[in-house]
Amino acid sequence: MSKCLITGVAGFIGSHLAEKLIADGITVVGIDSFTSYYDPALKKQNLAKLLNEPNFTFWEADLLEVNLSLLLKDIGFCFHLAGEPGVRLSWGHSFQDYLDRNVLTTQVMLEALKETGIQKFVYASSSSVYGTCALPMSEAVLPRPISPYGVTKLAAEQICQAYRENYQIPYVALRYFTVYGPRQRPDMAFSKIIRCLMEETEFTIYGDGQQTRDFTYVDDIVEATIAAARSNASGEVINVGGGCQASLFEAISILQKITGKELKIKYLEGQKGDPINTRADLTKASRLLNY
Ligand SMILES: NC(=O)c1ccc[n+]([C@@H]2O[C@H](COP(=O)([O-])OP(=O)(O)OC[C@H]3O[C@@H](n4cnc5c(N)ncnc54)[C@H](O)[C@@H]3O)[C@@H](O)[C@H]2O)c1
Repeated sequence: MSKCLITGVAGFIGSHLAEKLIADGITVVGIDSFTSYYDPALKKQNLAKLLNEPNFTFWEADLLEVNLSLLLKDIGFCFHLAGEPGVRLSWGHSFQDYLDRNVLTTQVMLEALKETGIQKFVYASSSSVYGTCALPMSEAVLPRPISPYGVTKLAAEQICQAYRENYQIPYVALRYFTVYGPRQRPDMAFSKIIRCLMEETEFTIYGDGQQTRDFTYVDDIVEATIAAARSNASGEVINVGGGCQASLFEAISILQKITGKELKIKYLEGQKGDPINTRADLTKASRLLNY
């Protein structure tokens, strides 16, 4: 595999992807602007191991300000993971950040890639594009997001398609389902639950705790992401899930067993934009990515 670019490399998933590519002997350029969505110090920690790698180069810069033709020089594969994650904060005035970091970053990348002969553009999309739909969620249904976050992730998928149609940029958009594992973002459930258990503080459940997710281990996400780059698939959106569905209560019960502690729980009304249940149909991932 020729030289790869990872945007959002200091993030939870981006840092795992970079470590795997480097371990496989591939040269990686990474870019991140350390946005303040969560503590930038954690993002710097995510990068710590990578910065000692001779095959890894890091650019601390914003994709909307950097010289993209310099950044993209000799890049064969681009993994576009930079973005503003999270459903709950996407309402209200922070929507501008979602537009900038999810939609506009994708457009400027594709615009800059028009003349480069890129071999594959892999876009990190989300199960949030589905909104509330029949399970398992299939790529064949019309996506109808119920959060502003989901709308921006879907818009970016569509921009990929427009650039493929008109400029033949080969892309795959992967719809990741709730990712977990070491270095999980501090705003995500497992990370919060473990922190509350260790610090013996209260965890807030939005809704009744019966909501379910198709939780996906980060190594599986990384495997599918690299497979998408290597595959012949182009112009495709593909689900990447963990293959089963668990409720928040089930996850809490496992984490209580592991830590030997009991979680203090507070209940609040369900959050707007959060679907009740998710589960990925993995037929297409299996067929196109051997996932
Ligand atoms: N974690 C999940 O469960 C999940 C699920 C579905 C989709 N995704 C998508 O996967 C991608 C990675 O998610 P994550 O959980 O690792 O999030 P993350 O916040 O840990 O990583 C994203 C990184 O992008 C960087 N970034 C944002 N805007 C930038 C810009 N303009 N220029 C340079 N860097 C910028 C941030 O500083 C951050 O380090 C995101 O696009 C997210 O929408 C994640």
